Amino acid sequence: MTAAQKTAALTIEGLRVSIGGHDVLHGVDLTLEAGRVHGLAGESGSGKTMTGLAVLGLLPHGSRASGRIAFGGRDLLEMPARELNEVRGAKIAMVFQDPATSLHPMLTVERQLTEHMRHHLGIGRKDARERAAALLAKVRIPGPEEALKRYPHQFSGGMRQRIAIAVALACEPEVLIADEPTTALDVTVQAGILRLLRGLCDDLGLAVLLVTHDLGVMSAVADEVSVMKDGLVVETGPRGRVLREPRHPYTRSLLDALPVPPGENSP
Ligand SMILES: Nc1ncnc2c1ncn2[C@@H]1O[C@H](COP(=O)(O)OP(=O)(O)OP(=O)(O)O)[C@@H](O)[C@H]1O
Ligand SMILES: [Mg+2]
Repeated sequence: MTAAQKTAALTIEGLRVSIGGHDVLHGVDLTLEAGRVHGLAGESGSGKTMTGLAVLGLLPHGSRASGRIAFGGRDLLEMPARELNEVRGAKIAMVFQDPATSLHPMLTVERQLTEHMRHHLGIGRKDARERAAALLAKVRIPGPEEALKRYPHQFSGGMRQRIAIAVALACEPEVLIADEPTTALDVTVQAGILRLLRGLCDDLGLAVLLVTHDLGVMSAVADEVSVMKDGLVVETGPRGRVLREPRHPYTRSLLDALPVPPGENSP
C-alpha cells in the first residue's frame, strides 16, 4: 500500500485519562490505518493498556477520559453507551494477553464464535456455523469442523489465542487492538501468532494496534511504531526509522536494552 492509499481507520487526539483523580494519560496522539500494524511499546505502567481500553470504552470504574477518538466520523468518547456497545466487539475488537479473558471455559468454540455473529450480524444459526468454521480455518486451527464442538481447555495456549483471535474477527471488525497477545505464550508459538496477525491485517485490511513492551516483537511485524512513556507518546514513525534512528532518548534506551539489534528478524 502506498502512502497515498493509506486510510486513517481510527485517530486518537489529545487523549487524557484519569483514574480516581490520578492522571494516567496526558494527551496521547495516535493514528491507526487500514491494512497497517501499529506497534505500541513502552515500559510497564506507561499507559499502553489504558490507551487500548479507552478506545473500547472499557476504562476502569472511576475513570474520566477527554480528548477525541475519531472512528467512522464519530467521536467514541461522545458516543452514548448503547451505540458504543454495538461498535465494541464488532467494529473494534480486542485480543488480550491471556486468551482466557476472551474465551468462556464452559462454552463450546462454536457458541463463542456464533453468538457474537448472530447478535451483531443478524444471521441465522446455519450461516453462523459455516462462518465460524471458515474463521477457524482462517486462523489456522486444524480440523475446523471438529474444533467447533470442543471447549477452550482442549486446545494448547497458542491454539486458544488463535481461537480468541477468531472470536475477535467474528463480526468483521475494522480495528483490532491486540494487547500483549504473545506475552503469555511459549516462545516457540509467539512467532506464529504474530505472523497470523500480520497476515490478517494484510488480507482483511484491518487496522491493528499491537501493544507490547517488547521492541523485538514489534520489529518483526509493525509498520509504524509509537513509544509511550509516563502517559505520553514520546516518539512515533515508520518502524525502520524509529528502530534504526530513534530520536527520543527513551526509545534509544529501550533499544539498547534489546539482546539482538532490531531489524535482524524483520520480514
Ligand atoms: N484499575 C486501575 N486503577 C487505577 N490505576 C490503574 C489501573 N490500571 C492501571 N492503572 C494505572 O494506569 C497507568 C497506566 O497503566 P497501563 O496498564 O495502561 O500500563 P501499561 O503500559 O499497559 O503497562 P504494562 O506493560 O505493565 O501492561 C499506571 O500508572 C497504572 O498504575
Ligand atoms: Mg498493559
